[in-house]
Amino acid sequence: MSMDRDIAKVLYTEQQLKQRVAELGAEISRDYADKDNIIVVGILRGSYIFMADLTRCITLPCQVDFMALSSYGKGTSSSGQIQIKKDLSETIDGAHVIIVEDILDSGNTLAYLSKILEFRNAASIKICTLLDKPSRRVKAVSADYCGFVVPDEFVVGYGLDYAEKYRNLPYIGVLKPEIYS
Ligand code: IMP
Ligand code: MG
Repeated sequence: MSMDRDIAKVLYTEQQLKQRVAELGAEISRDYADKDNIIVVGILRGSYIFMADLTRCITLPCQVDFMALSSYGKGTSSSGQIQIKKDLSETIDGAHVIIVEDILDSGNTLAYLSKILEFRNAASIKICTLLDKPSRRVKAVSADYCGFVVPDEFVVGYGLDYAEKYRNLPYIGVLKPEIYS
């Protein structure tokens, strides 16, 4: 049973992702060239592939850490009720924090996270999201770095899941609506 048959169309190929992630890494490397104490924080689990590729395109020394926040469960829209399932392993006091997220959708997750991290005395906090779906925004959050702006369709692959599946697709595609409806 191949995963490909559940995909209506490919939005970004492996090659396009690689190219764009390299550009983001170069941009971040330029912007943070004079900073030390950089911590790149991946939001589990959706960002795991993006995080691995992006950090290898950042040419500056940086730490990596991870957080896990409550997700959708099996639905395709956010509940607005966010919980920390796994917190950071290190303190971010005085650090330049770059939050790495798979997709910025309603904004509930990142609005909550930004508010929480603000109280931890980071020197700066920026958001890097691979995908942005601005049409669905509920909270006023915007990304400092964004890979691609996507239409209002449910996408999977390159870390993004539907009901915990399809994360391991090497490209990003639109899931056939009959899979989730
Ligand atoms: P937000 O809190 O609504 O901004 O949702 C962010 C989270 O919802 C992301 O980290 C994803 O895990 C998930 N999400 C939102 N849209 C999609 C999608 O199109 N495909 C897969 N996951 C999504
Ligand atoms: Mg998810």
